[in-house]
Parts: sequence; C-alpha cells; structure tokens
Amino acid sequence: MRRHPGSPGLGLLTLLLLVLAIASRAGPVTPPKAAIATAHPLATEAGFSILADGGNAFDAAVTISAVLAVVEPYNSGLGGGGFWLLHRAADGHEVMLDGRERAPLAAHPDLYLDARGQFVPELALDGPLAAAIPGLPAAFCHLAEHYGRLPLAKSLEPAIGLARDGFPVDESYRRMATWRLAALRASPAASAQFLPGGEVPPLGYLLRQTDLAATLTALATQGCDGFYAGPLAERLVSGVRAAGGIWSLEDLARYRVVERAPIVAEYQGWRLVSAAPPSSGGVLLAQMLNMLAVLPPDQLKGEPRAHALVEVMRRAYRDRAAYLGDPDQVAMPIARLTDPDYAAGLIRDYDPARATPSRVGDGCEPETFEEGRDTTHFSILDRDGNRVAATLSINYPFGSGFVPPGTGVLLNDEMDDFSAQPGVANVYGLVGGEANAIAPGKRMLSSMSPTFLESERGVAILGTPGGSRIIGMVLQGILAAVEGAPVDDWVARPRIHHQYLPDRVEYEPGALDAAGQAAMRSRGHRLEPVERGFGNMQAIHWDRVGGRVEAASDPRGAGRALVR
Ligand code: DON
Repeated sequence: MRRHPGSPGLGLLTLLLLVLAIASRAGPVTPPKAAIATAHPLATEAGFSILADGGNAFDAAVTISAVLAVVEPYNSGLGGGGFWLLHRAADGHEVMLDGRERAPLAAHPDLYLDARGQFVPELALDGPLAAAIPGLPAAFCHLAEHYGRLPLAKSLEPAIGLARDGFPVDESYRRMATWRLAALRASPAASAQFLPGGEVPPLGYLLRQTDLAATLTALATQGCDGFYAGPLAERLVSGVRAAGGIWSLEDLARYRVVERAPIVAEYQGWRLVSAAPPSSGGVLLAQMLNMLAVLPPDQLKGEPRAHALVEVMRRAYRDRAAYLGDPDQVAMPIARLTDPDYAAGLIRDYDPARATPSRVGDGCEPETFEEGRDTTHFSILDRDGNRVAATLSINYPFGSGFVPPGTGVLLNDEMDDFSAQPGVANVYGLVGGEANAIAPGKRMLSSMSPTFLESERGVAILGTPGGSRIIGMVLQGILAAVEGAPVDDWVARPRIHHQYLPDRVEYEPGALDAAGQAAMRSRGHRLEPVERGFGNMQAIHWDRVGGRVEAASDPRGAGRALVR
C-alpha cells in the first residue's frame, strides 16, 4: 500500500495513539496553577513573589526557608537544619537534600552524662553545648547553585528585608517565647534579639533583627563562605566556646549537605517518595503502609481502624529505635526494612481483638509533650510541575535559646535527637540504641518526613512538624489522600499517635468517640487524650484527572496555603 506523502505511517500512528492514551490517563504534564502552603502568611507571600520574579520552586524554597528563619525564629533558622525533598519536572529527578545538623567533632557519647553517669536532659536542650553544626545555610547555597534559576542574593532579599525592617509579633511567637523564657534570658544576645526590654514583646510589636539581617547579607554576597568561614564563623565559634560549648572552626569548614536517594514504596497504586536516613520518616512510612496493605480491608474502616493504625505504628517505631541512625556512620538494613515481605512478617501476630504489648520496664515514661507545632514544614508546586516538600527545625521551641554575640543566629538543640544512653528517652520520649549514639561529626536521627505521593490520578505534597509524632501524622495524611478526601481533610482530621514506647495511645479531641475509646480500652490499649492538637501540616494536591490544584494549611496553626 502506498502511503500518502505527509501522512504518518501505521507504526507512527499507533505510537501517537499510545502516547495520547498514556497522556490522557496520566493527566496533563504541567499543573494549571502554582501552589504554596507554609506555616506563616509572610513566607507564602514571599514564595509567590519569587515565582513572579522568574524563580522556580527551588528558588522559592530558599526564599521561604529564609523568611521562616526570620518570622518563625522559634521553629527553624540559620542555626538549624532540615530536609528538602525535590522533584524536578524536566527530567523527573528526585532527591532528598540532607541539610541535617552534625555533631561537633569534639562530641562524645558521655557528653550529657553527669559524674554518676546519669543523663542530664537540660545539657542537651539549653545553651550552646546542646547545639550541633547547622546545615540550613549550606542547603541554601546548594539549592541556588544546582536547582534554582535565580542568584542566592535575589532569593534571600525578602528575608533580609524582614530581618532589617521587622515583622509583627504574633500569638505563636508570644506562646513559644514564654515557654522558653528562661533559656532565652540565659543568653544576653538571644535576650536582646527576642525579648526587647527583657520581656516577651506584645502582639503586633515590630521585631527587628539587625544582626540576622547582616548575617543573611553576608550569605547573599559571599555565599556559604560568608557563614562557614571568615569573620562570622569566628564569631560563631568564639561565642559558643565562651559559653561552654565545643564547636571549632574545623566543624564549620567541614560541614557539607548531602544529596540522598529518597525512600520509595508503593501503596494501593500510589508511589510514596519520602525522607531517607538520617530521617526515620520514609523507612517507617514504607513499613507502616506495607503492613496496612496486608491487613484485612475491614480492619482499615470504621471502629477497628484506630487499633490497626496503632499496631502498625507500634511495630515500625520499634524498628526505628533498633536500627536507624546516620547513613554515613551506621550500616542499616534499609532494603530489608522497606520490603513488603518483611512488613508482612512484622504484622503476622496482629490480633484484631488485643493490643500487642510493647516491651516496657525500662522506666521511660516521659511527660506528654504538649507543644507539637514547633519545627516547620512547607510544600511548593510551581507551574512547571517542580515540587518541594521541606521540613526544617532547630528542634525545641527557640532551639537551645543561645545566640553567639554579633551573629543573630539562634542555635539549635538538635543534639537531643541523639540517643544519649541506650533506652533513655529524649524530650519526645523516643528511645534508641547504638545506631543513634552520639559520635563526632554524626547526624542525629530525625522524624521529619517531607513526602510526595504520586499516581495517575494526581500528586500530593505534604509534611508536618511534631517531633516523634510526625511520622504517624504524615501516615494519616497519606491515607486521607489515598481515600480521595479533600486536601482540607488531610491536614484537619483529628489524629492519633503511638510510638512503641511509652506504650500508650495519644489522641486529639474528636479522634476517638466514646464507643471508640471503649473498644480500644477493651483491647488493652492505654489511652491518653491530648487537649491541644498536635502538628501543623501543609499540603498541596494536584488533581490530574480533574485538572485542579488545591492547597491547605493545618487549622491548628496560623499558616497560609494559596493557589495562583
Ligand atoms: O528532627 C526531628 O525529628 C525533631 N528535631 C523535630 C522536632 C519537632 O518536630 C518539634 N515539634 N514539636
């Protein structure tokens, strides 16, 4: 048969039809709108302003991280670290940028023990001995250089402006500063920066941070050397050492961010992409989803659901304590832990009628951690389809409460995320062993879980703060997304939590009704209501089938989610 010149051949036509069929199943390749969800309205606005100036999602990630460092100084900052999960639309490249803090080179396993060998929690929480080497500034440089379109100086402009000209103090600031008043007052530079006149500022007070503006400007003009070397590095180290800390110039000079392959798993046709060690988030999410996948479907609906969730959380958190730590220093059986067959074995002894007791008896029964919104998460989707999910932290509210004089940099107290002694709980009640023991230059195990979920139907971008509760919260957000619930529901639904030890189920108001509570108790669960909600989830949903983008900010917090 002679073909008409210019008409596609049969093979080409078939190929074209196939491509069209795949494209129509997978929906359009780029989203109709961009979306940003962050924990602070000023950060969301700054993110959009950088997109409007020609930046992509990765430039916006720098801008938002830097603005949050200024306007939410209690949650994250230049003196802290975080994980940025990236998806580059052009080639599908997916990576986790690990800007986690590292222990100083002079750190050792007995750092927080007294003369009798007892753990002294305050040493790992308050003051410069609690501070690890920050990763946030290095992550800014890496993002700008390797992924962004704009120079770092441009992306940092909004944060510099807000540090120099001030931002209005809000309720969260006042609550967190009141909570950490003693630690802040112990540091004269922190007090001067965060407690004008020595007191928590009133609502609406315009808080200016001139030292921080200068430090951000040094980063903008000199890049990472403006922070990890030169006069600023010297001020950081001498300030820390003068107040009893152990940092050295070598610590700063040797800090590096690391690109790591994310954890990937499958659940009901959705592809999970989440944080790899040194976060425990992705591994535990994969384990929990793999366990849920083999439970009888009736266990995931109605009244039995809370029991099923608790039992998968319990088993995953047990492995967290046993196996996970810094991948650069510890060998971990990640492939095995995330294998569906392994999960099936873990959940084999699931009893629909009985709680499986955790191993208790090591005396670890910490107080309920009431604050659950410090640390911060943001999600970004740009018009090209680039995605960022980032969770950033200085650990406790206002971190260590310590600012080295003349730097404006509030230091983290992330050292408390190490396991100071086997079986001894940290501030979130988490226990651990050798894998997460303190060692020089080591990254401490985290729960931060920036996450993507993707299928033919759409894309979800989500995460939250909340210490040890983060992973279970993200699990509950994922399940809502997979069910097809609206994005507002992912972030708002009342939550439950179990972390193996202590062996108790924490639940938010509304998470278990009276009958649900009775049913849980009859199975042998110990229940503990948490009066104030926990978490501050920021989520984006790109519905590829409906061609819509929507975003939501947790009603427990004061964030803002916008689609434009
Ligand atoms: O990396 C971690 O897992 C913790 N430092 C996060 C702290 C946190 O989310 C505090 N929120 N309540």
